[in-house]
Amino acid sequence: MRVLVIGSGAREHALVLAVAGDPSVTALACAPGNAGTAAVSEQMGVDSVDPAAVAALAVSWKADLVVVGPEVPLVAGVADAVRAAGINCFGPSAAAARIEGSKAFAKDVMTTAKVPTAHSEVVDSPAFLDAALSRFGPTWVVKDDGLAAGKGVVVTTDFDVARKHALMLLDGGHPVLLESFLDGPEVSLFCFVDGKTVVPLVPAQDFKRVGDGDAGPNTGGMGAYAPLPWVPAGFVDDVVASVVQPVVNELVKRDSSFSGLLYAGLIMTATGPQVIEFNCRFGDPETQVVLALLKTPLAGLLLATARGKLHKHPKLEWEDGSAVTVVVAADGYPGKPRTGDVITGAEGEGVLHAGTRRRDDGAIVSSGGRVVSVIGVGHSLKSARKQAYARVEKVHLAGSHHRTDIAQGAARGEITTPAVG
Ligand code: AMP
Ligand code: GLY
Repeated sequence: MRVLVIGSGAREHALVLAVAGDPSVTALACAPGNAGTAAVSEQMGVDSVDPAAVAALAVSWKADLVVVGPEVPLVAGVADAVRAAGINCFGPSAAAARIEGSKAFAKDVMTTAKVPTAHSEVVDSPAFLDAALSRFGPTWVVKDDGLAAGKGVVVTTDFDVARKHALMLLDGGHPVLLESFLDGPEVSLFCFVDGKTVVPLVPAQDFKRVGDGDAGPNTGGMGAYAPLPWVPAGFVDDVVASVVQPVVNELVKRDSSFSGLLYAGLIMTATGPQVIEFNCRFGDPETQVVLALLKTPLAGLLLATARGKLHKHPKLEWEDGSAVTVVVAADGYPGKPRTGDVITGAEGEGVLHAGTRRRDDGAIVSSGGRVVSVIGVGHSLKSARKQAYARVEKVHLAGSHHRTDIAQGAARGEITTPAVG
């Protein structure tokens, strides 16, 4: 099978490596890719958000399967164009990708499907903002209604900060979603969905804030670990039954059936898991840890999903241990990152590339905010952390920063879920 992966982050590097390990794969390409994917797959240029360009590349390269990593191409209709060209595609249609692309659509689906989620209101004009804010908070949760790469959300106890963020979004022409604050640890649960059948992966936790102790602004994700030793027994099956399957069924009813990876972002509250968001693709950096533990050959699984054959696929197999990833980010991230700095030590084992490119002289230089995602695997979270951080020490990039506390609370047994009552 010839597999073409679309995207250029550490998630795509993880996908490329996992697909490369599947014996059914005969050729592998990544477009546009990065310095890490270029080392293990053919690299081709493409405007990944242009559906016609991606479909044309898939046809000319004779792909049997196209795997779309990021959300922006999916929301733009890349999967529709690839399927229309007669090629299997892992990733939802533009209609189904609205589950991530429009928070208002996602809320409507959840309400109809009776899926527990935070109460919310959409505000589309500054004239209604103050009255709406007075119906929420403190704490206020202010979100961009559209795609914002994880950075459009402000969670604050300060009314003025909430108001300022909402006005900034409205000024830019973006409707604002206000949400009630949910308290508890977060879980990312990824599920393969082929329209009907749901196959969950191991749950993971992402670290969204830029600094240790969850300080500073939200980012695309600064680290992750899997599995979660602290989730209650039966957690995954319960979430599939109460959250994922009802949403999948509701999307079928709306003629927007979902095929690809459905990511439920959950908060474990005192009244049970509640959804904070759905994403229409693998999460980054959680994918790096989830795939590090998956033993089942990935390409076959992605193809079974794309072809609507998940019900026939054998049960997934997992490594027994844990995986941790630590993101090394460029100076300035999550604001405007400094780019063009030379990175050394990034070609070692367990270093997945995100914002990197190879310069003409052969040096690897930074080209984005999240630069590499370093993985550690071990029999326990503690040993996985140790390996990840030992590998981080070997990566050198001027001005870079990373969190030092990824998976620390879980490794120490400090995370508890609120008693459900
Ligand atoms: P989102 O982009 O919707 O995933 O939000 C980014 C981050 O903001 C989440 O990972 C949470 O940490 C936080 N967040 C979002 N919605 C809520 C909420 N309703 N209550 C508490 N925290 C939230
Ligand atoms: N890790 C968060 C995301 O991929 O949206």
